[in-house]
Amino acid sequence: MISTNHTSAQDPATGKEGMIDSILKEMTLEEKVAMCHAQSKFSSPGVPRLGVPELWMSDGPHGVRGEINWDDWGYAGWTNDSITAFPALTCLAASFNPKLAEAYGFAIGEEARYRKKDVLLGPGVNIYRTPLNGRNFEYMGEDPHLASVMSVPYIHGVQKNGVAACLKHYVLNNQEKWRDHINVEVSDRALYEIYLPAFKAGVEEGKVWSVMGAYNQFRGQFCCHNELLLNKVLKKDWNFDGAVVTDWGGAHDTKEAALHGLDIEMGTGTDGLTSTAKNAYDNYYLAKPFLALLKKGEVDKAVLDDKVRRILRLMFRTNMNSDRAIGKMNNQEHLDVARKVAGEGIVLLKNDDAFFPLDPNKAMTIAVIGENATRAMTIGGGSSELKAKHEISPLEGIQKRFSKAKVFHAMGYASGPPAYGKVIPPKLDTDSLRTEAIAVAAKADVVLYFGGLNKNHGQDCEGGDRDNMKLPFGQDQLLDELIKVNNNIGVVLISGNAVAMPWVSEVEAIMQAWYLGSEAGHAIADVISGDVNPSGKLPFTFPVKLTDNAAHHYGELSYPGDGTDQYYKEDILVGYRWHDTKKIKPLFAFGHGLSYSSFALSDVTADKPSYTADDMINISCRVTNTGQIAGAEVVQVYVGKPQSKVARAIKELKAFNKVTLQKGEATTTTLSIKASNLSFYDEAINGWQLEKGDYTIHVGTASDQIVEELQITIK
Ligand code: BGC
Repeated sequence: MISTNHTSAQDPATGKEGMIDSILKEMTLEEKVAMCHAQSKFSSPGVPRLGVPELWMSDGPHGVRGEINWDDWGYAGWTNDSITAFPALTCLAASFNPKLAEAYGFAIGEEARYRKKDVLLGPGVNIYRTPLNGRNFEYMGEDPHLASVMSVPYIHGVQKNGVAACLKHYVLNNQEKWRDHINVEVSDRALYEIYLPAFKAGVEEGKVWSVMGAYNQFRGQFCCHNELLLNKVLKKDWNFDGAVVTDWGGAHDTKEAALHGLDIEMGTGTDGLTSTAKNAYDNYYLAKPFLALLKKGEVDKAVLDDKVRRILRLMFRTNMNSDRAIGKMNNQEHLDVARKVAGEGIVLLKNDDAFFPLDPNKAMTIAVIGENATRAMTIGGGSSELKAKHEISPLEGIQKRFSKAKVFHAMGYASGPPAYGKVIPPKLDTDSLRTEAIAVAAKADVVLYFGGLNKNHGQDCEGGDRDNMKLPFGQDQLLDELIKVNNNIGVVLISGNAVAMPWVSEVEAIMQAWYLGSEAGHAIADVISGDVNPSGKLPFTFPVKLTDNAAHHYGELSYPGDGTDQYYKEDILVGYRWHDTKKIKPLFAFGHGLSYSSFALSDVTADKPSYTADDMINISCRVTNTGQIAGAEVVQVYVGKPQSKVARAIKELKAFNKVTLQKGEATTTTLSIKASNLSFYDEAINGWQLEKGDYTIHVGTASDQIVEELQITIK
């Protein structure tokens, strides 16, 4: 059973400010400074003399990372740190189901708590701007509303365990290339309308207890000590009262770190216990150099007290909260959550001739082709890598569920060894792999091709971007060959990013299956067999080609920049906003996803013809399951303003509801939008403005499947 109804708990730091005052009075200047920087790879010190505990952090965001050495990035070799791996956040976003996000957050929070972590480094809510970003799989897609609605319950779920979520990477870390220095220039409008909303929601609605700064610069200042982003927007405008943590190695200057809102410096150096002193923890920007500025009076002591107060508040919410839960790990319920999220997040992109589902009771020959049928995907990818207690591969899942079929597997291509794990035997060269796969496919009734990307550097992996949008390792050629020998092919793509599909019209079906964690193979078999009726929707656009994507349309200065600066020239037109507005047909649109059933939307109405700024706009829609089996459809409401004094996207997602219906069943669902959420960010007044006049409400089942439109007026 998956419990999803965890009601909001009271903030454990409520009423603790007096205690924080008295602890602060007891502490020396040195003890306070010590709390503002790391003492190891993943911890910061407390004050042993006063019983203030250490603060322990861990990645994040798809499971609790294996124990890392005290002083370097190596694994510590513990044997009690194998965990449940949950699906990547892209998959969670694709479920369009906020209740599942809460269940996910709660389960991962329980695991973090059991592993004695105080801060879980996630969720990541950077916006999907380009399909090349190596880290898109860790984020929640291209739409700020979707990312907001899905991240808030994740945060609630985690924090109910007395473990802080850490919202990252604040902000504009939308590519991995040059992430440690690139300076992003973007308009205020795009900043406020596209890149900030999920962070704002995480702070204001999620009440997140910690935030991680991004590596990159914004308007010439590093995000980890950026005056505008941290002091003004986060701490003043949004009233964030928790602690700001650097990304590991994201601090670059003592005075800025001290004055521009950073609270805890992590990861600046690693050799505190070994040879050189240069990067030793004592020499961090917020260590001895900070102490010196305080002693000279160049930085006011109140600045330090504010940081320590925030850290103590974080502690009263976590490791100094004597009422906090005790956590759980590797229990069946967590596996159930992982499998459910995976099953609901898988997106059926194409399904000609009802190729899927395949009947598990039929005696048939299935050729499972492709390296991703057996490759461990919890390994690699960077800091989100996991030490999963188990990981069911797609091949295992299919073998188990299709026990009446004859299942043959051929790798077809080889990408090289994963970061850790099985090394490909040298005899498997490209030609023999391909020849073997073609032979296996030729004899089969059905071919299931498992390809896509993987977690190696240059694929879906932190620290680098992809070079292009093509499928790597000769997969396009392999698919061409397979199609020649067997035209009954379904493709299952394992990736966290869009890929080009030159073969799209030549295969029967395509399923986008993400990185699914411990239960990957079972979840995939659930959907392939029809045990689970797919209901996932794309959280980002698949363009036909790279230059169809807005960031790439504007050339190098827009992406990846000139090595120093980068300009987000597409402004607010990110993802489907661009495709819609510029009429560039995508390969698969944002919000798209098929079902084994069919649904009809009708009777779209607004509760009133006109609204004022304080109103809720309630849009009702009748949804009928017109197919032969139970299933779920995501009703999506987009809003546009045809006549506006500023350039607008044709439409923007403002509400969605996932509706589950039995065969033949119908229901009326109501989607509510705050009228004020139709505002645009007006650079002339540095604030939000709700334009009066007519707005178009577009209701549909994908950004390119709008079923009904109506007009409303803001007075
Ligand atoms: C990543 C963060 C991560 C941190 C700690 C950094 O390289 O960008 O997301 O939380 O390392 O592993």
